[in-house]
Amino acid sequence: MRQHKIQGQRNLHPHLDTYKMLCAGKKSYFAAAVCIITVTSMLAVSYLSLQRLSHQPKLIQEGRRCRGKIANSTITALKGNKTFIISPYFDDRESKVTRLIGIVHHEDVKQLYCWFCCQPNGRIYVSKAKIDVHSDRFGFPYGAADIVCLEPENCDPTHVSIHQSPHGNIDQLPRFEIKNRKAETFSVDFTVCISAMFGNYNNVLQFIQGMEMYKILGAQKVVIYKNNCSHLMEKVLKFYVEEGTVEIIPWPINSHLRVSSKWHFMQDGTHIGYYGQITALNDCIYRNMERSKFVVLNDADEIILPLKHPNWKTMMNSLQEQNPGTSVFLFENHIFPETVSSGMFNISSWNTVPGVNILQHVYREPDRKDVINPRKMIVDPRKVIQTSVHSVLHAYGNSANVPMDVALIYHCRKALQGDLPRESLIRDTTLWRYNSSLIMNVNKVLSQTMLQAQE
Ligand SMILES: *[C@@H]1O[C@H](CO)[C@@H](O)[C@H](O)[C@H]1NC(C)=O
Ligand SMILES: *[C@@H]1O[C@H](CO)[C@@H](O)[C@H](O)[C@H]1NC(C)=O
Ligand SMILES: *[C@@H]1O[C@H](CO)[C@@H](O)[C@H](O)[C@H]1NC(C)=O
Ligand SMILES: *[C@@H]1O[C@H](CO)[C@@H](O)[C@H](O)[C@H]1NC(C)=O
Ligand SMILES: *[C@@H]1O[C@H](CO)[C@@H](O)[C@H](O)[C@H]1NC(C)=O
Repeated sequence: MRQHKIQGQRNLHPHLDTYKMLCAGKKSYFAAAVCIITVTSMLAVSYLSLQRLSHQPKLIQEGRRCRGKIANSTITALKGNKTFIISPYFDDRESKVTRLIGIVHHEDVKQLYCWFCCQPNGRIYVSKAKIDVHSDRFGFPYGAADIVCLEPENCDPTHVSIHQSPHGNIDQLPRFEIKNRKAETFSVDFTVCISAMFGNYNNVLQFIQGMEMYKILGAQKVVIYKNNCSHLMEKVLKFYVEEGTVEIIPWPINSHLRVSSKWHFMQDGTHIGYYGQITALNDCIYRNMERSKFVVLNDADEIILPLKHPNWKTMMNSLQEQNPGTSVFLFENHIFPETVSSGMFNISSWNTVPGVNILQHVYREPDRKDVINPRKMIVDPRKVIQTSVHSVLHAYGNSANVPMDVALIYHCRKALQGDLPRESLIRDTTLWRYNSSLIMNVNKVLSQTMLQAQE
């Protein structure tokens, strides 16, 4: 086992090869035994030193210019299409590392190396990466991964290249800008991450209502990983981008991998689950770590509704006070079927807009016996290391379930318990508290976007 590992790195150990050649010439058993013992101890020593040194940055060249092309797409394939880089982030929460959020084939990607070019003297350092495939892969061959490299000292690299080998020519590798290098003060309190908009998304009315609710509740920023949407949605997104609320991250994952619209693998030849949602969520956390006090992780049809507080800020102040040391707050999902209408707020000018008018849907499904309601999260991004969809995988600090009397997730969609008669549903008009500002704001957006769309 140990021998096998060392052989893979043989080129790093010329002394060892020389010694083997010497040993091979001897005939007597005694000499052979001495040889074996000596080689074994050499192997042990070099194995230990390799273990210790392998992740340390190693200076390999000097006096070079950093000339590789700077990668400018959200998803960059490395040679062979087994590794995809989203973005590197500086992370000094434990030691100074560059952490690249990426997607890898869980078996085929065994070794990656970070190449750092340090200015002003053009020293090139190579560090062996630690490849950490997230545990929530759900059977798919590709999954979210952290590719973590120790940074060279006294360098503060601005860019990094990734290579399958510790040898080669750095000029031919794309360079990625390392984000979060400078600590910033928070520019916003709440950023909502919408992990994947896909399938010609056209639920325009519900999207606008969701956006306006997020803003009413305290979001200053909504980040959307956009795979694909309708022409009308493009107009609406453009409006919000110009307003400064929305940031679009292009997410062309299906031009690299066969994506599943399911979250778990169905043995159907797909490569990755749910349009790469988990990778997008992790990227969103790191992308907003330095600029947003909280990150809200939910889908476009979900709204975290506070019941005791008028907005997220007062709610989170209170939750943090009651849960010291907690960095992850989990909110329970509740289904409000889009097929059950209250008859209220049937606003005629909205009837031509594609999508659901959530104000009409205030009946929620009761809890089911033996079914745990899934949760979504508001997190302190600086305390999160890896996130999944309904919980975090690794974080500094605790997670806390937020009780139903403090907040719930209003989730308007197809019924899960479609057979239930209306009498079995629970009338819950929490959303209506916001009706007047919501209607006013939605009308403003519609008047600006739909007019343009008709032109
Ligand atoms: C990205 O880079 C390519 C060439 O490398 C260039 O053609 C393209 O316009 C760039 N795109 C953006 C958005 O900068
Ligand atoms: C990688 O994927 C691209 C398309 O995204 C394709 O053109 C190319 O042939 C693939 N390369 C390998 C080695 O599979
Ligand atoms: C969006 O995806 C659908 C299939 O899901 C496809 O039919 C449509 O052409 C795509 N639209 C754009 C603008 O790429
Ligand atoms: C809303 O009103 C229109 C007529 O203005 C009617 O056709 C439609 O059925 C109503 N929708 C609901 C859900 O009540
Ligand atoms: C709509 O909101 C106003 C206050 O903004 C409130 O007075 C009214 O009761 C709400 N409507 C409903 C049906 O809850």
